[in-house]
Amino acid sequence: MKKGVIITIDGPSGAGKGTIARAVAKRLGYSYMDTGAMYRAIALLVHRDNVNIDDEKKLSRTLLETHISFKRDRNSNLRVLLNKEDVTEEIRRPEISKLSSDIATYKAIRGYLKKMQRRIARNGDIVTEGRDMGTYVFPDADFKFYVDASISERVRRRRLQLKEGGIRASLEEVKTDIKARDKQDKERKEAPLHPAPDAVIIDTTRLTVDEAVEKIMSVIMEE
Ligand code: DC
Repeated sequence: MKKGVIITIDGPSGAGKGTIARAVAKRLGYSYMDTGAMYRAIALLVHRDNVNIDDEKKLSRTLLETHISFKRDRNSNLRVLLNKEDVTEEIRRPEISKLSSDIATYKAIRGYLKKMQRRIARNGDIVTEGRDMGTYVFPDADFKFYVDASISERVRRRRLQLKEGGIRASLEEVKTDIKARDKQDKERKEAPLHPAPDAVIIDTTRLTVDEAVEKIMSVIMEE
């Protein structure tokens, strides 16, 4: 396959993007970029420092002082670092999920992260995962996928994920959170979530992770 390939995987929360994107990256020997974690890291900073996101000057200053990076641990799991502090678990907390969707509506934050994402992906051979990868950040990506699943399946998966992270939440709580985030992510003015016209849409409701990965791999290998 040619060098410098960019593969984008977009979709709503709980559709399985993260697991699938990591597996595809591993199969191809590519790097993997979790852009949701970047929004979450900024949300955590805003939360901790009580930053008024309507104060553009203060916000710009905060962003300039923010350094988000990733590293792999011994088990090849990705760790998220905010100004060198490991915040991998903390950014998954439900209140940070909500706040990350809120701050993602801000143009200044999206512009800042778009630049960072393009810089990280400049050499290609990368799988990028998020809401606006194939549509706004990498409109010329080599392969674009949009991964979706039914709301009940997404709620089930998200709840399981939270449980694995030691967070208990009822079905109703998770459903309310996912629906609110879906609405906000799809209806915001800046880079709303929607499939790129040239994206391959994959419904993972009845697919195992392996089956979804196979589907994506077969599209990539067909080229
Ligand atoms: O994928 P996630 O659940 O970790 O993302 C958290 C929030 O970040 C999501 O509700 C919207 C925002 N986000 C975004 O606006 N654009 C992206 N590329 C990734 C995430």
